Amino acid sequence: MTKFEELHKLKDLMEKDDSLPLKGVANKLVFGSGNTEAKILCIGEGPGRQEDIEGLPFVGQAGKLLDKLLLLAGVERKKVFITNVVHHRPPNNRDPLPDEISAYGKYLDQIIEIIKPKIIITLGRFSMNKFLPDVFISQAHGKSFKIGKIIVIPMYHPAASLRNGKILELEKMDFQNLKKILGKII
Ligand code: URA
Repeated sequence: MTKFEELHKLKDLMEKDDSLPLKGVANKLVFGSGNTEAKILCIGEGPGRQEDIEGLPFVGQAGKLLDKLLLLAGVERKKVFITNVVHHRPPNNRDPLPDEISAYGKYLDQIIEIIKPKIIITLGRFSMNKFLPDVFISQAHGKSFKIGKIIVIPMYHPAASLRNGKILELEKMDFQNLKKILGKII
């Protein structure tokens, strides 16, 4: 089976899984999208309003910013795969709860296993904490961490940059710097 087929199979399983805690309160499953052969996997927090309507990750304002940030690193969005820590929208965009993160985590782990990325870019603290439970994003953003065979690079969540101009400046610098990091790895 190709990675594309494996991911589709996993998505079908997820669609049928009534145990997923946010399924009843969300509109659509936001499994993830992008290049199934990607070397870079981006992991956000959870779908927002627009993502819940369209069933696709990062299609709202934060997504538009993410597209521009990726371009600062010389990466077109169509080259990466993008998913989230939770795949249904939490009510009113609240933070995902620990039980929810672990319920969706088994699917996220399988997505990672199928894609086998060289690099994971985490967007925001919830996805960062999956790999780096004991660090603060204010200290870790933009740095590279080798976790097993994968290089994890924590970034601020684009929505945080939309709210705070200082974070936006830091995030732009991190993505510009990412271009150099990627040059050495890919
Ligand atoms: N924010 C996220 O963390 N994920 C999305 O898919 C959209 C916005």
